Amino acid sequence: MKTSFWCRTSIVAGFSAVLFWSAAGFAQSDGSTITSNKTLTAEQRLELGARDFRTYCAPCHGPSGVGDGPVATEFVKKPIDLTVLAKNAGGVFPVEKIQNLVDGRDMPRAHGNSEMPVWGVWFSAAANAAGLLQDDISTTEAVVQARIERLAEYLKTIQK
Ligand code: HEC
Repeated sequence: MKTSFWCRTSIVAGFSAVLFWSAAGFAQSDGSTITSNKTLTAEQRLELGARDFRTYCAPCHGPSGVGDGPVATEFVKKPIDLTVLAKNAGGVFPVEKIQNLVDGRDMPRAHGNSEMPVWGVWFSAAANAAGLLQDDISTTEAVVQARIERLAEYLKTIQK
C-alpha cells in the first residue's frame, strides 16, 4: 500500500513539474503569456490570437480550424470544426459562449468529462510561471481573459 501511495504521489509530482516547466518555457518564448489587451491595436491582438491558435489549438482542431489536426485521430470525441461556430449559432458568432467554452473553468468538463483542455487553468499557470504574483488573482485573471478574448477574436475571423 505504502509503495503505491508513493508511486502515485511521485507521478502527480512529476506531472506538475512538467506542467510548471513547460509553462515557464512558454512564458519565456511567448510574450502573449503576460500581455493585456489595453495597449494593443486590433491587428496586434489578432496576430497574438492567431499565434496562440497555432500553438495550442491547431494540433487538435487543425491549422485552419476544421478539426483535422495531427492528433485529432487520438480522441474518442473528434475536435469540432471551429469554422462553423457562427453558422451553428444562427449566423452570429457567439463571443461570450465561446470564451466560456475555451476557458472551461466554469464548465462541467473541468471535472474531466471532455478531451478539450481547460485553457483557463493552463493560461493561468503560464501567467504565474511568467512571474505574475500567484495571489494577485486580478492580474493573472486579466491576462488569462485577454488571451481568451484574443483567441475568440481570431476564431471570429475564420468563420465560414
Ligand atoms: C487536445 C486536443 C484539443 C486541443 C489542443 C484543443 N481542443 Fe478544442 N476541442 C477538443 C475536443 C475533443 C472538442 C470536443 C469536446 C466535446 O465535444 O466535449 C473540442 C471542442 C472545442 C470547442 C467547442 C466546445 C463545445 O463544447 O462546443 C471550442 C470552442 C474549442 N474546442 C476551442 C479550442 C481552442 C480555442 C483551442 C486552443 C486554445 C482548443 N480548442 C484546443 C480538443 C482540443
